[in-house]
Amino acid sequence: KVPVTRLLRRPAAIIGTPDQARHPNIRLPRDLYRPQRTNSRGIEFGDRSALNKLLSDVAASKPVINEIADMSPETASDIVAAARAGFKAWSATAGKTRAEILEKAAALLEQRTAHFIALLQSEGGKTLDDALSEVREAADFCRYYAAEGRKLFGGIEEMPGPTGESNALRLRGRGVFIAISPWNFPLAIFSGQVTAALMAGNTVVAKPAEQTPLIGAEAVRLLHEAGIPSSALHLAQGDGRIGAALTAHPDIAGVVFTGSTEVARSINRTLAAKDGPIVPLIAETGGINAMIVDATALPEQVADDVVTSAFRSAGQRCSALRLLFIQDDVADRMIEMISGAANELKIGDVRDPSVHVGPVIDAEAKQRLDAHIARMKKQARVHFAGQAPEGNYVAPHIFELSDADQLTEEVFGPILHVVRYPADGLARVLQSIERSGYGLTLGIHSRIDDTIEDVIDRLSVGNIYVNRNMIGAVVGVQPFGGHGLSGTGPKAGGPHYLTRFAAEQTVTVNT
Ligand code: NAD
Ligand code: ALA
Repeated sequence: KVPVTRLLRRPAAIIGTPDQARHPNIRLPRDLYRPQRTNSRGIEFGDRSALNKLLSDVAASKPVINEIADMSPETASDIVAAARAGFKAWSATAGKTRAEILEKAAALLEQRTAHFIALLQSEGGKTLDDALSEVREAADFCRYYAAEGRKLFGGIEEMPGPTGESNALRLRGRGVFIAISPWNFPLAIFSGQVTAALMAGNTVVAKPAEQTPLIGAEAVRLLHEAGIPSSALHLAQGDGRIGAALTAHPDIAGVVFTGSTEVARSINRTLAAKDGPIVPLIAETGGINAMIVDATALPEQVADDVVTSAFRSAGQRCSALRLLFIQDDVADRMIEMISGAANELKIGDVRDPSVHVGPVIDAEAKQRLDAHIARMKKQARVHFAGQAPEGNYVAPHIFELSDADQLTEEVFGPILHVVRYPADGLARVLQSIERSGYGLTLGIHSRIDDTIEDVIDRLSVGNIYVNRNMIGAVVGVQPFGGHGLSGTGPKAGGPHYLTRFAAEQTVTVNT
């Protein structure tokens, strides 16, 4: 048993409870579960009465003070040792059985959608539509990795035997994987990392972000209930110090990390410096994501897509639009329309289902964003400055920069930066995007095929969206992840993801 060294008291404002027994499962009617249509201001639900029932059920659950135990970095060895002890049995479990457990986890997630919505709203500050899509994404990850895992871990693959020998290739778990996740997708990314590592036959130490420990704890509880042995999946609560201690441990076999580029670099350095085996790092990080809008783009579509890409989830998505390049012939009109659409957004308490922009994650994030806004007000032209209520809210802002190089780092909130470019200036725009070194998402709005192809060919960016918004990649449909400073690959929710978690073994027999 891991000693608890510090208790972190969560604020009483939390609604919902991690105690499943006290929070009845609420079955969601089909209409509510499947959004009817999506627009820049979120998802419109077909059945308002079902939605109201869900919200009142969530609100009726008693407010609780939850206590989360942080672990001290010194306990990292105990946790890794426990995960090592579980490896032999879990890696020997058939791929089919592992897949069945993940499928059961997906079903449990769906049954408990309301419970997880309550947690995502209260602990993660998510709007209803964001919370709902996140639960669905978590279930999608479980089912997708189960389906891919059945193919990859179903048995050995016979290879050609041209010399008369028999050759076979098989994939197996590597050992203990450390899974470190961010607060902005505390259920989906957390579950995606953990289930991929488990499906590949590894045992896992999962470290949720310190801002969202309850959701991580509940996800682990659900996976154990679905059938993952407690010896195969371990939870390590705490901040970066426990993450650093786990990644420095000599007995780990891999790290999957999603978060900032700065922390990914630090983990990379830790892995390179330590003794023991060479440990692979799968890092999915941030970006200064750009969208290019030329004079042929459809203005209404652009306004809708820009507002969704920059301000949905209060801009707290790694995929979110940060830097909008607009051809100067159409820039005034486009900026006016985008500002008009931004002005319609409602900011406030996410328990109100008509709210589009909820709070940022904590006071520290608000302070950082407010400081950036204050700086931009001096250095850039202000096109739009929304009004935020009291609390950790940051209103959408739109600033025009004279040069894209003024934005040197990812600003993780609802702040859009616009740069104009002349009709013959696309090459300079592309150079400027390349210079940033990031390559996560990119949007293009144009009706000229050559321009679109040119941009796609030229830029090394993980996810490119043409004539649509640039967030909300779908598992198994739009494999997600970036290049350069934005990540190492392979792409989450894609067909190559699981292989990076596995060790390949070739057996040649002289027959
Ligand atoms: P963060 O890097 O501050 O923290 C991420 C996780 O790393 C947390 O669990 C944290 O406790 C842990 N950590 C911190 N220092 C550590 C260390 N030295 N060693 C090991 N672990 C450590 O990021 P965040 O603020 O939680 O999340 C926001 C960032 O995540 C943004 O940059 C965003 O772009 C990125 N992100 C990327 C993706 C993607 O798929 N590419 C998805 C979501 C978020
Ligand atoms: N996968 C998430 C998105 O595409 C981060 O918005």
